[in-house]
Amino acid sequence: MKLPFFAAKRDFVVETIDIDDAASLPRIHEEDFVRPWSEDEFADLLVQPNVFGFAAREVGNRRAGPLGFVLARQAADEAEILTIAVARSARRMGLGRSLMDAVLRALHAERTASLFLEVDETNAPAIALYRRLGFIRVGKRPDYYRQPGGERTGAIVMRRDLV
Ligand SMILES: CC(C)(COP(=O)(O)OP(=O)(O)OC[C@H]1O[C@@H](n2cnc3c(N)ncnc32)[C@H](O)[C@@H]1OP(=O)(O)O)[C@@H](O)C(=O)NCCC(=O)NCCS
Repeated sequence: MKLPFFAAKRDFVVETIDIDDAASLPRIHEEDFVRPWSEDEFADLLVQPNVFGFAAREVGNRRAGPLGFVLARQAADEAEILTIAVARSARRMGLGRSLMDAVLRALHAERTASLFLEVDETNAPAIALYRRLGFIRVGKRPDYYRQPGGERTGAIVMRRDLV
């Protein structure tokens, strides 16, 4: 007898990232970033005391490594997002939002006043995510990013106040 197949719902957990994750991060980062960061670059960041982050893992499939991650740096009462990426195979399932929520919660607990980030002005998915999370545009850096074809695009600077 053939039984109908129902795709199982995928469950994820968001956990503090650690140095052992460094080897898995370039694989996700290189899916979209023009200059992906290497394992060594991630490892160098992850040992810095003011850098922290979170990884999203699929429940029941932890050996596959994270499906998304975010790194942030805190300095005095401000913080910045260093990078965030979700694997293409796991997008639009709420991971980006959950990762950003984890950063915001951690900073709120530390009484950090503001979180800043820079985003390519052409990156509509990321800008939509940040707007939904309450970030507002506070500046622009013209010709900031170089695209694969050589053309330049601007960076929008965004801020979310936490106090
Ligand atoms: C930006 C990114 C992290 C979003 O991750 P994600 O897990 O797909 O995002 P979520 O599923 O949590 O989406 C949360 C909200 O963001 C917005 N959003 C996300 N992707 C979007 C898209 N492709 N188009 C429009 N809005 C989008 C929506 O408002 C969405 O809420 P909804 O699904 O209820 O409509 C992901 O697209 C990514 O890794 N992009 C490549 C790397 C990158 O650009 N990083 C940011 C650099 S500044």
